[in-house]
Amino acid sequence: MSFPANFAWGVATASYQIEGAPYLAGGGYSVWDMFCRRPGKINDASNGDIACDHFNRFREDVAMMAELGVKHYRLSLSWPRIQPGGHGAPSEAGLAFYDQLIDELLAKGITPWVTLFHWDAPYELYLQGGWLNRDHADWFADYTQIVVDRLSDRVQNWMTLNEPQCFIGLGLQSGIHAPGDQLGMAEVLLAGHHALLAHGKACQVIRAHAKTAPMIGWAPVGAAKIPATNSAEDIEAARESMFATQKDSVWSNSWWNDPIFFGEYPTEGLEAYGELAPKPKAGDMETIAQPMDFFGANIYNGQTVKASENGPEEIPNPLGIGRTIYHWPVTPDCLYWGPRFLYERYKKPIIITENGLGLSDWVALDGKVHDPQRIDFLHRHLQAFARAGEDGVEIAGYFQWSLMDNFEWYEGYRHRFGLVHVDYQTQVRTPKDSAYWYRDVMASNGADL
Ligand code: FCB
Repeated sequence: MSFPANFAWGVATASYQIEGAPYLAGGGYSVWDMFCRRPGKINDASNGDIACDHFNRFREDVAMMAELGVKHYRLSLSWPRIQPGGHGAPSEAGLAFYDQLIDELLAKGITPWVTLFHWDAPYELYLQGGWLNRDHADWFADYTQIVVDRLSDRVQNWMTLNEPQCFIGLGLQSGIHAPGDQLGMAEVLLAGHHALLAHGKACQVIRAHAKTAPMIGWAPVGAAKIPATNSAEDIEAARESMFATQKDSVWSNSWWNDPIFFGEYPTEGLEAYGELAPKPKAGDMETIAQPMDFFGANIYNGQTVKASENGPEEIPNPLGIGRTIYHWPVTPDCLYWGPRFLYERYKKPIIITENGLGLSDWVALDGKVHDPQRIDFLHRHLQAFARAGEDGVEIAGYFQWSLMDNFEWYEGYRHRFGLVHVDYQTQVRTPKDSAYWYRDVMASNGADL
């Protein structure tokens, strides 16, 4: 298997999932702090108050990353840690934390890839309408300016938003994520439009103010479709399905990405949503469609599709297919077809900004954590991604989710996605077998895959 010489091998995390809550250290509440307080919302009744205590242990964590051969690290910043009130004066303590973290990473030869927003929106802004308020886009631009002024002398790689499909869809439509609302489609799509505007404005701020040449992308869900066979008909059916928009669903690739890369919502999506679609104001689409340097895609699995008389048809998974602890099917070809279809349409280098699996790992009698399934999962997915590269897709990087076990949203601490096991009673970190395997993969640039 071959990967380009400058391929970015890395691991990913997100602030709320690892740091410990900012409100305990002089910051503000996020919508996740408040959501976790609602009975029944988190399956093990936990929250991110302490999580991996990374806020206090970041130096050890960075040292551990260096020992594990990590060269690129995708992290997110907590907006309420930096701006406790969501807008207005920044917190010096919050900024100082990220200052030190970035310095520590650079000192160990690890390149930071910063996600500006990975779901922990300031609760104060939710009280002012949250993403339904058009001003949220400007507040986000102001926050971005604060971050860029402080960190862009050392940070070059930026992602604006993580998975709008989730913080808008799961957060505002189904309500299983914070802030836990169940709005109608018109409001959901309006909030989504404001999120796209926030993305565009943040890109403008980064380009105008970055002190070192920036690389900008974002990290949407890449809902991948896999053709049932290699026939031209099935491939076309999978491609069509990959960029389709369904009336009651926000899990569309084109709805979120066409505005950014083409400056317009897809016609088919506008037809599907009809009068519920947002009505952009003059100039909105130009603001949203900022130049992008790469396409970040979070891909965990894919849906198989075949051609039929009635158009693309989804095929059920084979009985007994391997599944992760989320019951997500193990479908390695998602990392071939997902990147390929996204590259064909949007023509930007593809970086897998998240891929991995949750299991229920524990420390064995020998003191180690054996996770052969994770090794096999990563191996198969990386092979598929490499094949996409061999077939002409510009593949530029891969970030395994996640460096260490962490707070997995409504599942709490029950799902372990890490290369490193975390004992939440003692905060002891134990690299799993997969961490050592991945270290060797990174060191050899994937040569032995
Ligand atoms: C993604 C999220 C990430 C993590 C993984 C398992 O949807 O972006 O924070 O929870 O799923």
